Amino acid sequence: MTSREIRNKFLKFFENKGHTIASSSSLIPDDPSVLLTTAGMQQFASYLSGQVKPPYKRACSVQKCFRTVDIDEVGDETHHTFFEMLGNWSFGDYFKKEAIDYALEFLISELKIPVDKLWFTVFKGENNIPKDESAIDLWVKKGVPREKIFEFGLKDNFWGPTGPTGPCGPCSEIHYERTEKPCSLGKKCGPNCDCGRFVEIWNLVFMEYNKNEKGEYEPLADKNIDTGIGFERLTAILQNKNSAYETDLFLPIMEEINKMVVVEREPLKRIIADHIRGACFLIADGVLPSNIEQGYILRRILRRIIGQGKILGLPKDFLIPLAQKVIELYGDIYPELQNKQTDILTAIQKEEEKFSQTLEKGLKEFKKIARKDISGKEAFNLFSTYGFPLELTKELAKEKGLKVDEKSFEEEFKKHQEMSRAGLEKKFGGHGLGETRVFEKEDEEKIKKLHTATHLLHQALRNVLGKEVRQTGSDINPERLRFDFSYPQKMTPEQIKKVEDAVNQKIKDDLVVKMEEMDKDKALKSGALSFFKEKYGEKVRVYSINDYSKEICAGPHVERTKELGRFKIKKEQSSSAGVRRIKAVLE
Ligand code: SER
Repeated sequence: MTSREIRNKFLKFFENKGHTIASSSSLIPDDPSVLLTTAGMQQFASYLSGQVKPPYKRACSVQKCFRTVDIDEVGDETHHTFFEMLGNWSFGDYFKKEAIDYALEFLISELKIPVDKLWFTVFKGENNIPKDESAIDLWVKKGVPREKIFEFGLKDNFWGPTGPTGPCGPCSEIHYERTEKPCSLGKKCGPNCDCGRFVEIWNLVFMEYNKNEKGEYEPLADKNIDTGIGFERLTAILQNKNSAYETDLFLPIMEEINKMVVVEREPLKRIIADHIRGACFLIADGVLPSNIEQGYILRRILRRIIGQGKILGLPKDFLIPLAQKVIELYGDIYPELQNKQTDILTAIQKEEEKFSQTLEKGLKEFKKIARKDISGKEAFNLFSTYGFPLELTKELAKEKGLKVDEKSFEEEFKKHQEMSRAGLEKKFGGHGLGETRVFEKEDEEKIKKLHTATHLLHQALRNVLGKEVRQTGSDINPERLRFDFSYPQKMTPEQIKKVEDAVNQKIKDDLVVKMEEMDKDKALKSGALSFFKEKYGEKVRVYSINDYSKEICAGPHVERTKELGRFKIKKEQSSSAGVRRIKAVLE
């Protein structure tokens, strides 16, 4: 069965059961607290939480998804960054029984998967949320032997919410037994065993709760069903292959790589195929490589495979024919790929050009140090100065029979991360490549400048709007500063201009930025501003910009204001009651 047939069969099956076919939403979700679309339910989140009345009671879709949590697994047989998810939903309509009936009917009657290949998991109960006895009963009633139903806790069998709050509930998964060979780890194994004998194919979520801002699970008035099938995995099973890379979803891309490859390394070829596909889809949905948020994920995956291209001996620009292949393969199902063809190819080429110079310099640096094992500091320097992911350094070292001190790399990474005082980690979570980020040197310089600009802005606001202005928050990333302050009304365009002019004047005056360490009390007495939310020790650092601004701050800052360039306020808006928010840049 071709992948195309599987998609159609799925949608038709559920349409016949009264489901409305919804088209895939963008990889960039509407909810700003979530970076990427990681599941089919996201476009329905407001229906599932009960906030919005759904226009239909049942829906199904084939959804584009992108997950970074599994990025370190990519290259194996079952994990991807970008993938498609087949899903069906009930919004306060049918519940567990029908969800289970439909799932078995689709797999067994429609797709003809032998029933004895299927295994199941249910929620065992944890944290005052009870065990899912009814799901066990329902599976057993359908003829599933009790010993093929395994119980797991919150980590495995409770789903959601996708952001900090939202709909969630216990889930029951269907796993497929890929091989009858006994467990290679010597266990009496079942679903979720690390030996690879089983692969999860379908997750049925019984959405009964809404997690609120206090972290409590409130029962939902209307219970919902949210399910998701990993399409790549299902396709591999139905095409009788070990991985999706051997199916029609990837084969043409793999063949294109094989035409160019000099050094054979199966996992790296797979990572390239996976990431180029993901990159094309991200760009088609409007993402461009950058140093923040989705753009940063895109940049990391592109740079990762550009580096790997070197290891495999792929020619310069090898990503272009691969991207063309992706567009050709998926363009009629996802027309945005065709519409954005030029953007996709241009963005990839530009990133390749941008990175290859640094990469060349990094490779030279690597050659210099690769006479003995690579220390954590050296590996970290390659990472922060030349954008070499640890993995690339490891690959290069392996070629030369050298080791990399990963543990001390991690320590360097952590140290550095604590120094990068940006709040992005919250959104990224985890630690795989492309996730938790550490700012590279160039970015750190930008952050430092914006940090000094923040002090100038703070003082300018107090001069223009009055001394009641108090900082209530600040967030800086390499591209902009964000400053929250207490002030009861919208600033007028004249006030904004005055503040901008004042900051630019101070930049032009090329004032010296001075740091002094002193006792906290002395600092406060001297009139240094302090941001009340920060906790200070007894000894604090006070940064003064001539006699214009004086603040308690951990730094770092530039030495002279002229380094900042031109300051521009991009936005002045409300942040919450009585608090305004400014976003500004240095040009
Ligand atoms: N939301 C669930 C998942 O992502 C079911 O689709 O697994």
